[in-house]
Amino acid sequence: MTITFRLNGEEVVLKDHDPSATLLDFLREERGLTGTKEGCNEGDCGACTVMVSDTAGAKSLNSCILFLPQLNGKSVRTIEGAADTDGTLHPVQEAMITHHGSQCGFCTPGFVMSMVTAHKNGATDHDVQLAGNLCRCTGYAPIIRAAEAAEGQPVPQWITKDELSIATKDSNMPRSSDELAALYQAKPQARLVAGATDLGLWVTKGLRDLGEMIFLEACEDLKQITISDTHLRFGAMVDMNRMRAAIAPYHPSYAEMIRRFASQQVRAAATVGGNIANGSPIGDNPPALIALGARLHLRQGDSRREIALENYFIEYGKQDRAAGEFVEAVCIPRQADRLRVYKLSKRFDQDISAVLGAFNVTVTDGTVTAARIAFGGLAGTPKRASHLEAALLGQAWSTASVTAACAALGSDFTPLSDMRASAEYRLEAGRNMLLRYFDDRNGGSPSVLEVMA
Ligand SMILES: Cc1cc2nc3c(=O)[nH]c(=O)nc-3n(C[C@H](O)[C@H](O)[C@H](O)COP(=O)(O)OP(=O)(O)OC[C@H]3O[C@@H](n4cnc5c(N)ncnc54)[C@H](O)[C@@H]3O)c2cc1C
Ligand code: FES
Ligand code: FES
Repeated sequence: MTITFRLNGEEVVLKDHDPSATLLDFLREERGLTGTKEGCNEGDCGACTVMVSDTAGAKSLNSCILFLPQLNGKSVRTIEGAADTDGTLHPVQEAMITHHGSQCGFCTPGFVMSMVTAHKNGATDHDVQLAGNLCRCTGYAPIIRAAEAAEGQPVPQWITKDELSIATKDSNMPRSSDELAALYQAKPQARLVAGATDLGLWVTKGLRDLGEMIFLEACEDLKQITISDTHLRFGAMVDMNRMRAAIAPYHPSYAEMIRRFASQQVRAAATVGGNIANGSPIGDNPPALIALGARLHLRQGDSRREIALENYFIEYGKQDRAAGEFVEAVCIPRQADRLRVYKLSKRFDQDISAVLGAFNVTVTDGTVTAARIAFGGLAGTPKRASHLEAALLGQAWSTASVTAACAALGSDFTPLSDMRASAEYRLEAGRNMLLRYFDDRNGGSPSVLEVMA
């Protein structure tokens, strides 16, 4: 495999490099670019943030969980390349100095690269853009002030050049769903790599050998989002930031939940296909998708099948996917928006859910006529709450009947206790989410960030 990318404006060509090497290790150990820091080495702190661009635009990504082949045909900019070669600082670097945005400085390269990317993209929701960057000594106010000060200043030409396309050769990566289908059928034992936000940790924390890897990054057709009169269709390689933007006009509560999915950097890499395929009981998308009645599109060679997403999750660690079969897309039927998604985690940003509830209840003339309710974190898989749904169906949409229906949740789930939450807490939280949904649908429920007297 040959990997070609641009690093701070210079072309890099790597032949037969270990495909499971991370960009962070490459930068620090092979290039001596030690400005990019290693903090957690698992996507949590943002110290290793770099900007990765291609013709589709620029993303901030955590280099500690980014494999080198994912960079093929792209431009990487590290802190060493934030300023021009003649030393002219980037506007966000100037602003960080002016506003005293750095104390010990360990976090600073990561912050600056997140800010350079946000500045390039014209993003001004700085709290969201920087939620994946941790700082222990400066405090966020001066950093946010610096980001605000740089807003609207022209993007330097050395940054815009990163989006120019790069000629690649012999990467041996599939470039479409068709090529992937043929390759994976021939090598069903290979490991598919999408955004690597799970698989990266298998290497950096699990010290596992991933064996043969098939990178999906070049499969452009798997990145498509199609909105028709009947469906919203997301290719498996749609990342969580694009998914959030696309779903917002149709199901704003879903989009709001995605804002709390990991961090800007992780969302820019993490794909919806990976979030489903990994079968995690606490993946944030599956409950929301199940509540919306989503269908999963699976492909093995030339044969394709479509299943209800809830049927994909058989039990913990077991999914309905054959050897050589992959997730091609997930489709949501168009419908009136009744969906609310509640994510409960210890921190607001950048945290895995303890419980996530997704509610989609149809009320006709005051009576519940349809209900799709799904939870993550209450069982070994994301799962519909069928007893709860049955308890609501045909009942009045009233405080009394919704409160009475809550008891049915105990028949649906026997959650586990772990470090995130006890079994009792999880069930109680699930019930309270239904009450919140009722309140929300009736115009109540303040923002969870609001403190009421
Ligand atoms: C710091 C951090 C925070 C996180 N926070 C959250 C969070 O808040 N909510 C949440 O849900 N998750 C979270 N995650 C987990 C992770 O980001 C998601 O599960 C993500 O969606 C995985 O997608 P990926 O593209 O990175 O998958 P990868 O890591 O590339 O792959 C994951 C698994 O899926 C398989 N796979 C990938 N694509 C396909 C496909 N198309 N067909 C078949 N198999 C496939 C891979 O072979 C692998 O087994 C977090 C991770 C990190 C590191
Ligand atoms: S080192 Fe912490 S996110 Fe990469
Ligand atoms: S300046 Fe020390 S961690 Fe941010």
